[in-house]
Amino acid sequence: MEPFQPQVLSYEEIRALLTKVSPQEFEQAKVHSLTRLKRQILYEGQPAGAIVRDTDGNEYIDCTSQAWSLNVGYCHPDVLAAVVEQMRHLTHVRYSYATIPRIKLLNRLPQLFPGNLTKVALNNQGGGTTIEAAMKLAMINKPGATAFLVPYRAYHGCSLVTIAASHYMPGLCRFPGFGLDHLVKFPYPYCYRCPVDKNPRTCSLACLDIVEQVIRYGTNTPIAGLIIEPMQGAGGQIPTPPGYLAGLKEICQRHNIFLIYDECQTAFGRIGAMSAAEYYGVAPDMLVLSKGLGGGFPIGALLAREDLKGFTAVEEHTTFGSNPVSFAAALANIEVMLRLDLPGRARRLGEYATARLRHMQEEHPLIGDVRGPGLFIGVELVEDPQTKVPATERATALVELAMLHGVIFDVDMPDLVNGLPTRRNTIKIKPPLTITEEQLDRALDVFETVLKEVEQFSPEELVQIREQMIQEAMPR
Ligand SMILES: Cc1ncc(COP(=O)(O)O)c(C=O)c1O
Repeated sequence: MEPFQPQVLSYEEIRALLTKVSPQEFEQAKVHSLTRLKRQILYEGQPAGAIVRDTDGNEYIDCTSQAWSLNVGYCHPDVLAAVVEQMRHLTHVRYSYATIPRIKLLNRLPQLFPGNLTKVALNNQGGGTTIEAAMKLAMINKPGATAFLVPYRAYHGCSLVTIAASHYMPGLCRFPGFGLDHLVKFPYPYCYRCPVDKNPRTCSLACLDIVEQVIRYGTNTPIAGLIIEPMQGAGGQIPTPPGYLAGLKEICQRHNIFLIYDECQTAFGRIGAMSAAEYYGVAPDMLVLSKGLGGGFPIGALLAREDLKGFTAVEEHTTFGSNPVSFAAALANIEVMLRLDLPGRARRLGEYATARLRHMQEEHPLIGDVRGPGLFIGVELVEDPQTKVPATERATALVELAMLHGVIFDVDMPDLVNGLPTRRNTIKIKPPLTITEEQLDRALDVFETVLKEVEQFSPEELVQIREQMIQEAMPR
């Protein structure tokens, strides 16, 4: 039974468009494409699961959830049902029109997060656009203030402003971003490599003093907001230490600076709680959501404190920003997540996986640090646990080899010095929260197998990998 009766094309024609592609077409598309394409053509995801197949029939356990977004797994049937139902009614409306899914989502989101975050702006562009919405709202509510504080090695998006607010990769990225004069960076509390060289057990959060100093001496203009991932994702899977966000909030309050959490990665169950705000018990003034919210459909949401002034009609809207199909997907996705207690599942599976990885660490000095929580896992590889020299080449090779064994992992952002990667050594393990115990075990088995392989690489092999890495990353 087909869901719709096409009017102009036949179902066979539509299927042929979407299910068949020749190697020649792929080669031609690569020539046309201004952006790079991976070598696999992904074709089909396991409904509600963690497995994805390519057009050659290869199966992969996806420990990336496609940019950490498919928290409920690929093509969740309930999300699809909501989407199909919504598409029978409306697929697109102009931004200023209310629709039933938009009304319900505006009312539902504030119920999920701590603090008085009852004001909501929605879009269908994703995280970067939502970060910019938060920046606009901060400037509206603190007139005259146009500066923002952002941490080292943050990632907030790929628009010109969010590139400026993110970790800069000279050479790899050929523009520093716009608005640099509005952005001031401060060290992220990365305890494994403490930016102020303290012992995390006894430091009394000395890194917060730097934030205080940056506020005092780092800008010549009033500061509107401080944007932070409460647990850094692309920067290396780094949770802020206990007490840090509470301290940051106190500093922001004292200086009348809006505290803005970028929870694109951490919200919706991945860390074993609905949000990092809940996990740490510290609510921000604004919360940026995306990724896991849409169940695979594009969406972004800004939540803001109840007392904050909102936007005029021209300040926040885009042509496709109010897509009812994505909002319908998000509504079903949220209920599925809660009904299945996916935060609880992520917590349990995460505890299991990190315990297994820590056990591996005892036998493999290449594993420098294992970080969670939940299924927000980072495994930092180092050449030597004492010197902590990043095992960048081995990490890259590990991801490549794991792919050949049918598991997709990823690594963190590179630090580039004179075109050479000096850091990109944290393996990210962030599968759909619906991954089965068996699949997770298989992914960890593969991790251990390829870890042993990369441990054996000779210095010559490492040089070769480094050259390959540079070639692949650099502009053509
Ligand atoms: C923490 C964080 N913020 C913002 C973004 C940007 O989101 P988008 O790519 O949807 O603009 C990302 C994307 O990876 C992210 O990880």
